[in-house]
Amino acid sequence: MAIKVVSTGRAIPPKRVTNEDLAAVMDTSDEWIRSHTGIGARHIAAEGVAASDLGFEAAEDALRYALDQGLVAEKNLEELAATIDLIVLGSSTQDYYSHPATACIIQHKLGAVNAAAFDVTVACSSFIYALETAAALLAADTRRKRAVVIGAEVLSAITNWEDRGSCVLFGDGAGAVLLEKRDGAGGLVRSILGSDGSGWEHLILRRGGSRNPWKKGEVVEQVPCIEMNGHAVYNFAVTVITKTIERFLDEEHLALEDLALIIPHQANGRIIQAAEKRLNIPAEKFYTNMEEYANTSSASIPIALDECNRSGKIKRGDLVLTVGFGGGLSYGGNLIRW
Ligand code: COA
Repeated sequence: MAIKVVSTGRAIPPKRVTNEDLAAVMDTSDEWIRSHTGIGARHIAAEGVAASDLGFEAAEDALRYALDQGLVAEKNLEELAATIDLIVLGSSTQDYYSHPATACIIQHKLGAVNAAAFDVTVACSSFIYALETAAALLAADTRRKRAVVIGAEVLSAITNWEDRGSCVLFGDGAGAVLLEKRDGAGGLVRSILGSDGSGWEHLILRRGGSRNPWKKGEVVEQVPCIEMNGHAVYNFAVTVITKTIERFLDEEHLALEDLALIIPHQANGRIIQAAEKRLNIPAEKFYTNMEEYANTSSASIPIALDECNRSGKIKRGDLVLTVGFGGGLSYGGNLIRW
């Protein structure tokens, strides 16, 4: 039995904001952003667009692609949506604080009337965790066959646009995969998931939770937004990306040549370059697109998977490794036989 990635999709907001656009309204420059991060632009959702809107668009795109390419037997979207057993959304910018789960809103819009739907929230590692969770739930019950796993973010809603050290890093978007349980080998081979809670304060949105709830009559001087200790996150990221790749190679008895492509979380080109250097991995082994989309948190890996899938950069039978990190602090990776 294998949990295969059958199809992929994505949703990118049309509004594109370049580094020059940011430099026109704050004290930064294209040169600084590019040289420190590899980012050239980001896409920003229109006012009123929430994570469920982008997540739905990406999920529908993945289902339509499956139908168009003849990857499933169903004839239309309605029929296909009704066969979905699970919708698992990775996100840190859900539509609503606490509940409902944003995945439930997507389930309704998609017409996936037979699906259980829930969110997985591990900051930028959410998609990696969501993929493993969905695969494990498909494997756990013979009646479950299909899952849609989504990473969707509207980070612009929680970005501190007055903090040039963090706001230049983030963008909005969503990506999705259709998983199916099939006979045979391949599919999701295994995942590594990990966390280092000692760094919980290094990437944080402080207000609104049970630790720091809103109080009646309170005057809001600063909207809740991401606070980041960039240096700590950077050091953590380089360490865990390097270790996770090493662990996959060692524990699965793989050589670097066995991997067709490594798809890292698209946070910062320098983090990836540091991992390349430490492990002596050629740059071409890593797929990057942060130049165009910046860091879209849990959406970055599924967006990249969709681009690689549709462009033929990854083909059936290829071994693909995702690897990422984020608030928590958290990290992980998925090894997938495509
Ligand atoms: N434009 C221009 N200058 C900027 C700037 C910007 N957008 N942001 C910061 N600077 C300035 C700082 O004020 C500082 O100036 P100073 O030396 O006069 O004090 C200088 O650039 C260097 O800042 P520093 O924070 O040391 O830069 P850095 O090389 O560590 O890069 C990050 C900062 C944020 C790019 C880097 O730490 C990083 O990528 N960390 C990981 C963040 C991340 O990936 N977060 C998401 C995780 S999922």
